[in-house]
Amino acid sequence: MANEYHDPVLLSSCLEGLNIRPDGVYVDVTFGGGGHSKAILERLGPKGRLIAFDRDRDAWKNAAALSPTDGGTGDPRFTLVKADFRWFKNHLRYLNALPVDGLLADLGVSSHQFDTGARGFSFRFDGPLDMRMDHRASRTASQLLRDLDEAALTNLLRIYGEVNGAHRVARQLVNANAHTSIATTFQLVEALRPVTPRGRESGFLAQVFQALRIAVNDELGALETLLRLSTDVIAPGGRLVIMSYHSLEDRLVKNWMRSGDLGGEEEKDHFGNRTRPFNPTSNKAIQPTDRETAMNPRARSARLRIATRT
Ligand SMILES: C[S@@+](CC[C@H](N)C(=O)[O-])C[C@H]1O[C@@H](n2cnc3c(N)ncnc32)[C@H](O)[C@@H]1O
Repeated sequence: MANEYHDPVLLSSCLEGLNIRPDGVYVDVTFGGGGHSKAILERLGPKGRLIAFDRDRDAWKNAAALSPTDGGTGDPRFTLVKADFRWFKNHLRYLNALPVDGLLADLGVSSHQFDTGARGFSFRFDGPLDMRMDHRASRTASQLLRDLDEAALTNLLRIYGEVNGAHRVARQLVNANAHTSIATTFQLVEALRPVTPRGRESGFLAQVFQALRIAVNDELGALETLLRLSTDVIAPGGRLVIMSYHSLEDRLVKNWMRSGDLGGEEEKDHFGNRTRPFNPTSNKAIQPTDRETAMNPRARSARLRIATRT
């Protein structure tokens, strides 16, 4: 049955990837609608533990669905940490949950975030140009646009959005902002109109909105921290399971799982032996079937990678 908040993507492959032991300790660093967390809890026995993270207060409310009678607080096996997952190692240490047997990250935004106009993530709805996953964060997308100069904005659009003609687009935005500040999603769409390619309006707007979203939430910075710390946190034989939705993320995940280096450089010890901290279960990413994509179009760009801690 479809979940209004977010349909979990590649659910059975993620669960298989985690290789769940009923008495193990697992982490879901992107709780969202709780779809993956719920399925993990169903596979845990009374001694198992699940610690979930999310930085979005809308997601926190979904903890109640895991244990409806008491607002999600009553299942002693479950803890929700209302924080950015980049701090997960400290939280896990504080919760006495180290090392863990498996870690799941389902990156990016939830359907709820996309589909709620007031969050500002989508060019399809009018709303404040916010895009913060975490309401406690200081800089909205509108503020970011105001703060960046043409060169910085060009880089952001080129790297995070793979926007063609990024420089022209950046110049247009800087000029538009100098006129009146871009405060809403529809004002941004309007400001982009002169540089929006005819016939591929949606694709272009999606790229620009994605670029801003990644920057506002420092999504790549958070992922890099997560990957680096995964080595300290996952027990030997434990699993790292990561689902990403664009090539920049997937490249970092692939490099890390193959070599233990974000740039893909392989480490060797004094004797020339490879010292990588993870063994990928496969060189190829798992992708949703046509059937899953037909039922849940948001699954389309998902790439799932799984590795075992050496
Ligand atoms: C794709 S959704 C996860 C959906 C979830 N697996 C489910 O089944 O409903 C991603 C979630 O991760 C959260 N998130 C993304 N980056 C985060 C970060 N650095 N720290 C904490 N939460 C993050 C978002 O707020 C969002 O709720």
